[in-house]
Amino acid sequence: MKEELKKVVTSAKSEINSVVSMHNLMQLKSKYIGKKSILNSFMQKIGSLPKEERPAFGQTLNIAKNQIEQMIADQEEKIKELDYNKTLQSESIDLTMPGRKRAKGSLHPITKVWREIEDIFMSMGFEVAEGPDVEDEYHNFDALNTPQDHPARELSDTFYLDNDVLLRTQTSTVQIRTMENHSLPIKIISPGSCYRNENDASHSPMFHQVEALFVDEGVSFTDLRDMLNIFVKKMFGDKIEFRIRPHYFPFTEPSAEIDIICVKCYGEGCNLCKGSGWLEMGGAGMVDPNVLEKLGIDSEKYTGYAFGLGMDRIAMLKYKIPDMRLLFENDIRFLKQFS
Ligand code: DAH
Repeated sequence: MKEELKKVVTSAKSEINSVVSMHNLMQLKSKYIGKKSILNSFMQKIGSLPKEERPAFGQTLNIAKNQIEQMIADQEEKIKELDYNKTLQSESIDLTMPGRKRAKGSLHPITKVWREIEDIFMSMGFEVAEGPDVEDEYHNFDALNTPQDHPARELSDTFYLDNDVLLRTQTSTVQIRTMENHSLPIKIISPGSCYRNENDASHSPMFHQVEALFVDEGVSFTDLRDMLNIFVKKMFGDKIEFRIRPHYFPFTEPSAEIDIICVKCYGEGCNLCKGSGWLEMGGAGMVDPNVLEKLGIDSEKYTGYAFGLGMDRIAMLKYKIPDMRLLFENDIRFLKQFS
């Protein structure tokens, strides 16, 4: 029996030492020293030994049990250390790994042209003026010499919020507000949002204009043309020509529309300019004396020019954007191209 027990201890030792998980170690523990273990079965066999051998074998059995307990305790320590090292390894940081880059945002193309336009005009002595998006009929139409029956005033074009309260359809409102509140001479631009009931590839219900107004003694149509020339060249480059076409606006006399030569085909005719070689950019003219007089400005002494350009139009032309709706869909793949 003693020999047998020795063998058990030896095999327990090799089994315990090779185990690497706590679960397997506990299984060995119950195999060797648990209730239904091998050592227990030896215990039960003590009764079959001659009386005088029993105490000595009991002692040997105890020693064996203690040895196996110690082996298990030692192995437990080893496994714990092993697990700890594994955790350390999995949680360790590789300092040589390249860092994760933070995605950088970019300015919206309209914000870009908005800022560029402000810079160009401020460098020419203009100040930036502001007016409210929610307006009254007086500033949006009446003061701008627009008769009651003008088609632009109709519900189908203008968003009315209430009787006499509307979303401005043009930044020309700021011309009136500035002339009401400032002494002459006046030399301002006013970029901002406008609203009209239109929606297609070249119209959006919310869009952006930049208005300009210069009122002083002796301001002429030539000054208007010169300023537009400077603006177009600075905005689009020296190669880009523009033209002034006769037109009608209620608040200017004479009135004109401004086209720039197609930035894609330079006048040849292409799909962007629909074959005409020219692209529409906005309206302009000499401030109608009626508008000045209504605001108490002596139209014999003072003259002024004004123009209103589509900023979305300018962004589309500058960046060759084929559809206005792209500007307001906020598709990140589109916006990323302007970073
Ligand atoms: N407000 C006009 C529009 O939205 C554009 C315009 C035309 C503005 C002539 C002006 C101007 O200042 O003089 O269609």
